[in-house]
Amino acid sequence: MDIEFVRSRFIKHFDGTTGSIYASPGRINLIGEHTDYNGGFVFPGAVDKGMLAEIKPNGKDKVCAYSIDLKDYVEFGLNEEDAPKASWARYIFGVCREMIKRGVDVKGFNTAFAGDVPLGAGMSSSAALESTYAFALNDLFGDNKIDKFELAKVGQATEHNYCGVNCGIMDQFASVFGKEGHLMRLDCRSLEYQYYPFNPVGYRLVLVDSVVKHELASSAYNKRRQSCENVVAAIKAKHPEVEFLRDCSMDMLNEVKGTVSEEDYMRAEYVIEEIQRVLDVCDALERGDYETVGQKMYETHQGMSKLYEVSCEELDFLNDIAFDCGVTGSRVMGGGFGGCTINLVKNELYETFVTTAKERFAAKFGRSPKIYDVVISDGSRKIC
Ligand code: GLA
Repeated sequence: MDIEFVRSRFIKHFDGTTGSIYASPGRINLIGEHTDYNGGFVFPGAVDKGMLAEIKPNGKDKVCAYSIDLKDYVEFGLNEEDAPKASWARYIFGVCREMIKRGVDVKGFNTAFAGDVPLGAGMSSSAALESTYAFALNDLFGDNKIDKFELAKVGQATEHNYCGVNCGIMDQFASVFGKEGHLMRLDCRSLEYQYYPFNPVGYRLVLVDSVVKHELASSAYNKRRQSCENVVAAIKAKHPEVEFLRDCSMDMLNEVKGTVSEEDYMRAEYVIEEIQRVLDVCDALERGDYETVGQKMYETHQGMSKLYEVSCEELDFLNDIAFDCGVTGSRVMGGGFGGCTINLVKNELYETFVTTAKERFAAKFGRSPKIYDVVISDGSRKIC
């Protein structure tokens, strides 16, 4: 991402002075999808694509925000009733409000921002935006007294309270806590986490973007979460200690099979299996057993496609191509309904796979998928 470019736009758009520049990344997730809001494990890492924002307090009681990519300018006040209409500006507004709720004395500021995380590709461009502003406002107005976990929660609460997505904590956690060359295993119940050096010698992680834009807010995501909560409520009747699907076994799920809908049962089955897969992948990684890692990724794809039903024709097709090419692991990444597959590919297979994926996808859907090589990078930071 180009710092000089953002700076030049900031100078042009505002009063010619400069402010401070902050950045936060998007993320990948090796395995553990839709497990975060179920108290389970996730295994994400931050990437080298993200958001960059220049910010300067303006001595007023309003925020003047310019989206460089959308060439759109919005002003808003800092009170609850001042919520802007533009969806991109609601993320910034939400972060301001959530910081204020946590006691930070947020004042007006000028800001311009740009990003290179592809929008709607399942790489969490929105979390990158939220984390950038949460980190910046903490630095500019909060003496950095809000800790990193709370900054991630500010982003999550922004999604819940201002953007209508009842998401888990994974994306914001990954964006804030990312570390170059490391994946992170987060226990979303206890919030304990560990960094795992990730350097799969002989392999590459490659994202293949179906360019089907997902719409997480389109209630389908929230509906999945509701299904999980329905099942927990049913199991809780007999096992009051249960708080999340994380606390449930397949035996417990089968006890309530007749009392929950078939759909809710399938959703819960996927989640219970997926939580275990994250642990299996961590063990496999410790042994350097990438074949098992890859096999679990394929299992996740099956589960997301057939049980959780968050895949789509294009993503299933990309998964099939990966399998046919002999790719070690492949699956839909992120919330689903579009976006990317993540693929664990042997170096010697990379060219063949990428060429075949482009050709076969174009022949069927009439457009080329986009390819992104994954570079695992650092989390939220101040640039200058
Ligand atoms: C989206 C959400 C996350 C997580 C993933 C699925 O990215 O924001 O909290 O639930 O979907 O794993």
